[in-house]
Amino acid sequence: MSFDQVLNQKAFINGNWVEGSGSKQFAVTNPATGETIIEVSDCTAQDAENAIAAAKAAFKPWASKTAKERCQIMRRWFEIVIEHEQELAELLSTEQGKPLAEALGEIRYGAAYIEWFAEEARRTYGDIVPTPKGDARVLVMKQPVGVVAAITPWNFPNAMIARKAAPALAAGCSIVIKPAEDTPLSALALAQMAKLAGIPDGVINIVPTSDAQAVGNVLTTHEDIAKVSFTGSTQVGRLIMRNGAETIKKLSLELGGNAPFIVFDDADLDRAVDGAVTSKYRNSGQTCVCANRLYVQAGIYDAFVEKFSAKVAELKVGGAFESDVALGPLINKAAVAKVEELVGDAIDKGASVTIGANPSDKGELFYNPTILRDVSRDARVLREEIFGPVAPVIKFDDEADAIALANDSEFGLAGYFFSKDLGRVWRVAEALECGIVGVNEGVTSAVEAPFGGIKQSGLGREGSHYGLDDYLELKYVLMGGLAE
Ligand code: SIN
Repeated sequence: MSFDQVLNQKAFINGNWVEGSGSKQFAVTNPATGETIIEVSDCTAQDAENAIAAAKAAFKPWASKTAKERCQIMRRWFEIVIEHEQELAELLSTEQGKPLAEALGEIRYGAAYIEWFAEEARRTYGDIVPTPKGDARVLVMKQPVGVVAAITPWNFPNAMIARKAAPALAAGCSIVIKPAEDTPLSALALAQMAKLAGIPDGVINIVPTSDAQAVGNVLTTHEDIAKVSFTGSTQVGRLIMRNGAETIKKLSLELGGNAPFIVFDDADLDRAVDGAVTSKYRNSGQTCVCANRLYVQAGIYDAFVEKFSAKVAELKVGGAFESDVALGPLINKAAVAKVEELVGDAIDKGASVTIGANPSDKGELFYNPTILRDVSRDARVLREEIFGPVAPVIKFDDEADAIALANDSEFGLAGYFFSKDLGRVWRVAEALECGIVGVNEGVTSAVEAPFGGIKQSGLGREGSHYGLDDYLELKYVLMGGLAE
């Protein structure tokens, strides 16, 4: 297939490519150039209703397939995605801006969720539980929750859809997906691959829209939606919880993060520097698990800042298709404005700029990788999720100080620390208030691991064998009268 053959223009409802009921389109632009890539069907609340009706009709036939049948169809989906990984990566880079190599990594990461959950479909085991009655047994079975709505972000336009759709389908659920307005093309291409794989009509539906509120409102309040899975801001997560209250929806919420990244005096300094570069600048700093605040112990603070700055100075900023590019553009003007505001606030409060802190000459949405040192503890950049290539580095004195600083946040998604002391590794890993801890590693994500946060970073886990549970109901059957 060529790039043009994975470029879809219409919504995908009940296995058909359809115009939105309002007969309108919205433009999807390349953030690196500002050019329109294509105009896509702009779905309305009515289209969301239609998609839910299609998913409802498809649910029971899909759920009643054997686990092995679902596994085989999903496995085919995985294989088709991998066959077309190059075109899909080009599409992803074009709509999202991340460097091509990183986009290819994302396609493989997303496909790995499909592969993993295809396998897990066959392992939805139940239990037989002893009861106090001699002539009775409790049998626990797992059943799909029903029709799922997924609302997905622009920072991983492929993988965040795969991470929700794959466990849903493996469990026997059908799904309606609202992709982010900035990046609907990767979602539509995934649906195209699903159709080629033989996923039945109505099991996957995609409703791109520029009216997130109208479509989101239907998806999060409709009585036929059993569960909403959302990745995005904590603010929108709260709204989804409120919307779901009336019909008691099940929720998976992957919300904001504010990851602390701690380097102790006893750390392997080079490893910590490499970890900081990958953790901070992945996707130009636009992931929920990016290091947001770097705490470095006083004894190695200057050495760390010097080595870190030298490495970051080598990072090339540019368009996704340029060679050796490490950082692409930010997603839109609002993202650039937020980064500028946070950097300005930190400097006003006394931070010094080690590197960057300015827009790149590559284009309107490009921002240079930035390191700020001696950042005041009340700077906004330490409280808010930056979602940009800015690393504030703060000095701390001892372990207790580091743990207190790290936990001083309403968020609790990821945290990282570097130390060679085994006792400290256990103490700090247990003390950090977050769902994901990287020890001597800057990137922790893997399909085999349960991704998710605590505190105001959300509910539920994605990936791993735990990830299937979020799409399954438990039912127990008490079987009595078993005595002769
Ligand atoms: C995210 O930013 O939400 C996902 C990051 C990841 O899966 O590593």
